Amino acid sequence: MTKHLSVADIRQRKDSPDKLVMSTAYDATFASLLSGAGVDLLLVGDSLGMVIQGHDTTVPVTLEDMIYHTRAVRRGSTTAHVVGDLPFMSYRVSKEQALISATRMLQEGCAHSVKLEGGVDVADTVSALTSAGIPVMGHIGLTPQHVHAMGGFKVQGKDQEGARRILEDARALCAAGIYSLVLEGIPADLAETITAEVDVPTIGIGAGPKCDGQVLVCYDFLGINMGFKPKFLKTFADLGQEIQNATQQYISEVRDGTFPGPEHSFKSSKRLRVVGDEQTSSQDDNLILYGNID
Ligand code: KIV
Repeated sequence: MTKHLSVADIRQRKDSPDKLVMSTAYDATFASLLSGAGVDLLLVGDSLGMVIQGHDTTVPVTLEDMIYHTRAVRRGSTTAHVVGDLPFMSYRVSKEQALISATRMLQEGCAHSVKLEGGVDVADTVSALTSAGIPVMGHIGLTPQHVHAMGGFKVQGKDQEGARRILEDARALCAAGIYSLVLEGIPADLAETITAEVDVPTIGIGAGPKCDGQVLVCYDFLGINMGFKPKFLKTFADLGQEIQNATQQYISEVRDGTFPGPEHSFKSSKRLRVVGDEQTSSQDDNLILYGNID
């Protein structure tokens, strides 16, 4: 039985010098790599609509999509807490709808908690979820599900009135029982104020260094999402380029006949070659590519 970081563990990291690190993940292989590297939380973000599905926004993502990917991430995560994002309109029709969506995310997606976007406007819904024992991560500031209402992916809370509203959002969500709060695309000083005021850990993206933790989309910080270079992003690897280089090498070796070589090829067993109709196979033939098959 593996031990994943719990909501209580995450709450305890409020004001800790040991900052929380969250990465998105969308499949079991990445989840295993990222969790193995030591990230605290894996967010199965609806950003998958853009980086996995190729949409321009997160709006087309469905609850079914999210459950499918969350289940895969949960299988790959060894120790990281898995957060399932509730997609566009899966929690805004009614409290009942939100309860059903979040329950599915925990039961079918096997998430440890859910995240949803919004502030004062969703506080009652968050209360209903947390009262039912469903841990909720809030998400305020630049909320991508509102892209059409915001007129694009724009930094929020730059003027006094905008900043005041975002602070109100943070307060309302805390009163509704969230265990942590994503602050996206807001000025660093506003994020610092919110972090000082609320009693749950804040996790920033494009919100400066004073949050209790940080989150990035894995395809972005690994340099796979080539050409995406917003100001808030630092790329820690150039995997997009590496993938292209390796793929070009693969193409060239297949075309010039270098791959596969003898070391990548199987041999018939002696009995099979001599007897011809024997059903036994050599040990090599039992070395199956993806894991052991009995
Ligand atoms: O969907 C997502 O990946 C997110 C993060 C960027 C916070 O919501």
